[in-house]
Amino acid sequence: MRTKEIKTIIHEYDSIDELSKEDIEIINKAKQAAQKAYAPYSKFNVGACVLLETGETIQGNNQENAAYPSGLCAERVAMFYANAEYPDVPVKTIAVCAYVNSKLLNEPVPPCGSCRQVLLESEMRFHLPIKIILIGENKILIIDNAKQLLPLNFNSNNFSS
Ligand code: THU
Repeated sequence: MRTKEIKTIIHEYDSIDELSKEDIEIINKAKQAAQKAYAPYSKFNVGACVLLETGETIQGNNQENAAYPSGLCAERVAMFYANAEYPDVPVKTIAVCAYVNSKLLNEPVPPCGSCRQVLLESEMRFHLPIKIILIGENKILIIDNAKQLLPLNFNSNNFSS
């Protein structure tokens, strides 16, 4: 028997001023996107902004539905739009934030399992890491790639191994 430990590295920042101009720009776009979320059921407004390798940015937000499972998270709305519109362009970074009662949450909101899986697929498809920026009022977390958020993941390599 062997016991293995998997490590996840998370960079934590106390202030947005510690980040690069590029990161600050997409953080602001994620915040803008959250204002346009359609979340009448949860009232949990999530915004995401994807930065492509070309410098193009794509915003997304959560889209809910009276038939609850038909809705989609902000991250996947942005990622699927990016991959649909620019199928050959890798995603470089995604920034995510959430508002309740028009207030940015103090704690960063981590992406759900399905969104992590979608981020991982895009990362593996282009063989380039996707930087994940999770925005809270009190702190900002940066994870260097999607794989770190989904250890022991299922991916296309499992079809033939
Ligand atoms: N949601 C997101 O958009 N992203 C996340 O990372 C977590 C959850 C959405 C789904 C649903 O519309 C609402 O937030 C409450 O779960």
